Amino acid sequence: METQAASDAHAAGFAVAVGERSRASIAAVLFDVDGVIADTARLHTEAWARLAALERLPFDRETAEALRGLSREDSLRRVLGARRVTQQSFHDMLDRKNAFYLELLEAAGPADCLPGAVGLLGEFAELGMRRAAVSLSRNAGRVLERLGIFERFDVIVDGTAQTGGSGLDRYHRAAALLGVAPRRCLVFEDSAAGIATAKNAGMRTIGLGDPRRLAAADMVFESLRGVSARCVLRWLGGSAATGEEPPAPGGCRIVAGHV
Ligand code: G6P
Ligand code: MG
Repeated sequence: METQAASDAHAAGFAVAVGERSRASIAAVLFDVDGVIADTARLHTEAWARLAALERLPFDRETAEALRGLSREDSLRRVLGARRVTQQSFHDMLDRKNAFYLELLEAAGPADCLPGAVGLLGEFAELGMRRAAVSLSRNAGRVLERLGIFERFDVIVDGTAQTGGSGLDRYHRAAALLGVAPRRCLVFEDSAAGIATAKNAGMRTIGLGDPRRLAAADMVFESLRGVSARCVLRWLGGSAATGEEPPAPGGCRIVAGHV
């Protein structure tokens, strides 16, 4: 039976325009994990900072910010900067960083869900949307388990997924597993790299965090706190459909956006 929320959604005609021409309603929401639903970006930062201190490598706030959304290997290359190390030492450092991260993760629990994330997931579920967690992290499944929200997703694509053989990026892969066309997917991401991957996959994007970092996203919010599913969908659909300024969406804090 259709819930009240779902019938509201249909009545409101949540059609979200994709690009200038085609229109498609959003049928799936894809959430990045670190920095979007889990407050783990700070744990990655602390783990890298520990490693950098032991290796006497410089590590400042700017470096930490640049690591957001980078793979473990690319992160280490960024931390090493001009320093050259043997392959053995490179892999050893990756393992030590991951061990620090897993140690920090042991203390994580449901309270480490970022504000607004769980409520928003519930709202999208009520609206009948398919939900995926999509992450570069090989630890994403463990993070979702620790936070107690593993079961809230229809599909989880993490960094252990074999995307190489199929040639699909992680977002395309999640869409294929959900059985939803990429143009009907809406992605929530906190990194510029993740927004670029999602856009290349032909998906709509919502950036979370600093609008300067996330200028390529369709819409940017400071965080998920106070963001409602209806408000996001109506705002995307309304402005794209009419070309007019969207009405101020109640309860949403829109930092920047262009649809
Ligand atoms: C996410 C995080 C990155 C992290 C990457 C790999 O994208 O934003 O900071 O480096 O996952 O995570 P892992 O847990 O596999 O080292
Ligand atoms: Mg992230």
